[in-house]
Amino acid sequence: MKGLTVCIALSLASYVYGHGYLTIPKSRTCLGNEASLDSCPECAILEPVASWPNLTAAAVGRSGPCGYNARSSIDYNQPGSAWGSSTVATYTAGQIVTVQWCVDANGDHGGMFSYRVCQNQDIVDKFIDPSYLPTNDEKQEAEDCFVAGTLNCNDVDGQTCDYSADCTEDEPCWRNDWFTCHGFEASTLPKCQGVDNAALNSCYTSIAGGYTVTKQIKIPDYSSNHTLLSWKWNSFQTGQDYLGCADIAITGGGSGTTTTSASTATTLITSTATTSKLTTTTLTTTATQACSTPVASVAVTFNELVATTPGQTIKVAGSISELGNWDPNSAPALSASQYTSATPLWSYTVSLAAGTSFEYKFINVDQSGSVTWEDDPNRSYEVPTGCADSVIASSNWQ
Ligand SMILES: *[C@@H]1O[C@H](CO)[C@@H](O)[C@H](O)[C@H]1NC(C)=O
Ligand SMILES: *[C@@H]1O[C@H](CO)[C@@H](O)[C@H](O)[C@H]1NC(C)=O
Ligand SMILES: *[C@@H]1O[C@H](CO)[C@@H](O)[C@H](O)[C@H]1NC(C)=O
Repeated sequence: MKGLTVCIALSLASYVYGHGYLTIPKSRTCLGNEASLDSCPECAILEPVASWPNLTAAAVGRSGPCGYNARSSIDYNQPGSAWGSSTVATYTAGQIVTVQWCVDANGDHGGMFSYRVCQNQDIVDKFIDPSYLPTNDEKQEAEDCFVAGTLNCNDVDGQTCDYSADCTEDEPCWRNDWFTCHGFEASTLPKCQGVDNAALNSCYTSIAGGYTVTKQIKIPDYSSNHTLLSWKWNSFQTGQDYLGCADIAITGGGSGTTTTSASTATTLITSTATTSKLTTTTLTTTATQACSTPVASVAVTFNELVATTPGQTIKVAGSISELGNWDPNSAPALSASQYTSATPLWSYTVSLAAGTSFEYKFINVDQSGSVTWEDDPNRSYEVPTGCADSVIASSNWQ
């Protein structure tokens, strides 16, 4: 049951070179498509630009960190009727979450993609105000902040990072080919299946059908009731960048930075990943100092979106005794009290000691007691050690 997020829309007859968009968490583009306002969610493209090998060389222009779709004349940097006014997911600082984008079978251009969080609320606030369209200068300022907040693939233990935009010069993945889509390698391997080995149409695109590209990211040490996760794909083969963003909330982290110090950050990070690591370290230190009375235990709420049939129960099994030490019989059950067909939410709250690290998976137990486990990898979580006494870990069945 991979990819619960489905962006359904009428298909577009005309042939265009549009090729990817963020689906988990649901991007503004994805929501525009679901609302039938944008028939080609994979068509928010910044072009023509120098997209490779210098991933930050191109000015972001009107595309901004959330994308501009010239086919439908939609600027996703401003909240619209179907996106941007509320958040689609709540994460916790330090949480490892699964994210996904969809690449069109016709858009096998290779390259590198990255996920970014701008830890400057003053900058982000201009992108969550429905009455305001940011200027191109403000879009560039935000883009620079997002580049500085690139989420490093190597921050997720055990993740393979051989094609990541955040690799530094001394790592083997630095300027490595691309995301192993196989398409233009004169290979017999199916196009675009190099990342997930997913089947064609495992996600929706309007042109030739999509393949999922799944990765895990570590949510940074930052808190915001409404911020943005931006996704950017630098195409290797064509002069194109693809951009999109999702409205998210982050709990349990530090307060980030303000516009005053952001100008320093922007100067620091212009291009090298090594420098942006320095910036991240500085922010983390500030955040730690901000909490004078850390809490001893935290109420952790697991929110899992998974469609079930009557008789099935969702449980959470994990590596700590509170989660049954991986034993399905001892794993606590989630509650379906908030479940609706539109929002199939299962939820469970447990008090855990701050700083506890564990791995877990959700399981589906049917009436006869037979157990279906989520797909690999194991999820991992570290209970935050800040001032927050409650956090929410949101996810979709994987
Ligand atoms: C990438 O392009 C930017 C903008 O032109 C430039 O400032 C930076 O030095 C370039 N980085 C590299 C590594 O060439
Ligand atoms: C989020 O909203 C709550 C309630 O309005 C407020 O108390 C809290 O300070 C806000 N958190 C952040 C990080 O802005
Ligand atoms: C998940 O955790 C279990 C229990 O520790 C372990 O047996 C299994 O190999 C892990 N799965 C993966 C993919 O690492």
